[in-house]
Amino acid sequence: MDALKAILTRRSIRKFTGEIIKDEDLQLILKAGFAAPSAHNRQPWEFVVLKDKNNIEAFAKEHPYAKMLPQAGCGIIVCGNIDVQKEEGFLVEDCSAAIQNMLIAIHALGLGAVWCGIHPKTKLTKMTKKLLNLPDSIIPVGLIAVGYKNEIKEPKDDFDEKKIHYNKW
Ligand SMILES: Cc1cc2nc3c(=O)[nH]c(=O)nc-3n(C[C@H](O)[C@H](O)[C@H](O)COP(=O)(O)O)c2cc1C
Repeated sequence: MDALKAILTRRSIRKFTGEIIKDEDLQLILKAGFAAPSAHNRQPWEFVVLKDKNNIEAFAKEHPYAKMLPQAGCGIIVCGNIDVQKEEGFLVEDCSAAIQNMLIAIHALGLGAVWCGIHPKTKLTKMTKKLLNLPDSIIPVGLIAVGYKNEIKEPKDDFDEKKIHYNKW
């Protein structure tokens, strides 16, 4: 699939078959995350891969909007290191770019995924830090639940000419 087609046809997938993605696909997805742009090229990201059933279920139990995670079978929690990127805004932007890169890669591989937010929700951040045993300097930004699709979602076209401003507002 070419890049433009992948970007224009990606959708959030929340229904999965339960089959676990292959390790070689996981490596490609992570590689796409590492390829994201970052402020000052600091690359503050760290990736926590959830594969263990107990860890996955514990996370899904505590996150009200990630109940699809056990069925997806694999989670990638994208975190940023505040010692590497001291501007929290940049850290979140960098990690979000990595998340979007991975979502596109996942779709291009024929798999499905959904981005589940963590940052800036204090309760979700605290819960994630505790469950994953994250050091103080590591901020969890978002979770990607990834697996084999069990729903078909048509591409949508959200293009809106009214939101484009040329030269001045
Ligand atoms: C920062 C962020 C947080 C999100 N959090 C959740 C979430 O917790 N659970 C969920 O099911 N979807 C979540 N989503 C997915 C959005 O609901 C989804 O992208 C949106 O409805 C548009 O649908 P599409 O991805 O199919 O284009 C999140 C998306 C973003 C960007």
